[in-house]
Amino acid sequence: RHPGWPAELGPLRVAGGVVTVRPVRLRDASAWSRLRLRDRAHLEPWEPTGEAPWDLRHHISVWPGLYRSLRAEARKGGMLPMVIELDGRFCGQLTVGNIVRGALRSAWIGYWVEKEVNGLGVATAAVALGLDHCFGPVGLHRVEATVRPENDASRAVLRNVGFREEGLLKRYLDVAGRFRDHLLVAMTVEEVPGTVSDRLVRAGRASWT
Ligand code: ACO
Repeated sequence: RHPGWPAELGPLRVAGGVVTVRPVRLRDASAWSRLRLRDRAHLEPWEPTGEAPWDLRHHISVWPGLYRSLRAEARKGGMLPMVIELDGRFCGQLTVGNIVRGALRSAWIGYWVEKEVNGLGVATAAVALGLDHCFGPVGLHRVEATVRPENDASRAVLRNVGFREEGLLKRYLDVAGRFRDHLLVAMTVEEVPGTVSDRLVRAGRASWT
């Protein structure tokens, strides 16, 4: 067992409804596949390039294998593969990856939310809950994220929760078919007096249910 895994995060209420975050499940296959196939145009410009075509990579039959590799990585303590729920319904994923312990105690965080509920504060709330979990039970000191400079919605999410910009990574990641520049943002535990979720609540962006 690793500290902070498995865990249920939230609830936190935002404009779109009640946001909770929980570990991936085998039975997420159909919701995952349906949203990923439907929202391809919304997701693909911002996500790592895959080897197989989008439709094949997101077929319902792919989930069990993906789920098992995510769970295996989580059990080794290297990852927190989570699902974002809105009013109890699958609406996206929140992933904490490359968890490194020792003197670094760091990880990255990434996320997506279905298009239909965008702009309602869901990703902001989920990332806040994820950060509090990382700095609390998981015991991390630093969480970073990388985002394409053109991704205004994701940059707004990162800004909303208090990430600080550290620099521009040139040709950093193969996204949508080419190596793309990414902004590196980060937060260390010293920058969070109290919790990120409390800060959101105080800013009027969310409320405790
Ligand atoms: N231009 C500028 N700002 C925008 C735009 C836009 N086109 N669209 C939305 N926004 C703003 C909103 O106003 C809001 O900011 P505000 O609260 O300050 O007004 C913010 O972006 C969105 O906040 P939320 O509602 O909390 O986020 P949402 O639930 O809509 O999810 C997300 C945002 C995750 C980026 C979603 O659009 C998505 O899944 N996109 C595709 C995948 C993706 O880009 N994932 C992130 C990759 S980078 C990373 O993981 C670190």
